[in-house]
Amino acid sequence: MSNKELVKAAFDAMGKAYAPYSGYTVGAALLGKSGTLYTGCNVESASYSPTNCAERTAFFKAISEGEREFSKIAIVGGKNGNVTDMFMPCGVCRQVMAEFCDEDFEIIVALTHDDFKSFTLKELLPFGFSKNNIVVD
Ligand code: THU
Repeated sequence: MSNKELVKAAFDAMGKAYAPYSGYTVGAALLGKSGTLYTGCNVESASYSPTNCAERTAFFKAISEGEREFSKIAIVGGKNGNVTDMFMPCGVCRQVMAEFCDEDFEIIVALTHDDFKSFTLKELLPFGFSKNNIVVD
């Protein structure tokens, strides 16, 4: 799947966002190495802390369907559906990416369907903490 197609899927997912408190609607489209696409949106809560970001919605959908390896994710977001900047993933979502993805995992952030750029996970989470840093018996 091309980056442009993945960006389109992220825009479509943004339309499903449940964000009555912040007004920020976010969509993510995650491509598994199997070729399966998993989309996600942010889901907010009246008690705020249960809120789940779009990226983690996509990851948790994928993991719960048995996908464990990923090649890239596209992310879009903005206030009330207006995308005015490239929406960068929060630190918690970067940490979840580090749990399941290699350093070269591609993170695509988009302003429009045709204006997007890519980062690697290593660029967005340098010197990160991961399972390689702990020994589990
Ligand atoms: N949000 C995401 O969906 N992804 C991020 O990486 C950062 C923030 C959502 C959470 C909340 O619903 C809204 O954006 C404002 O923080």
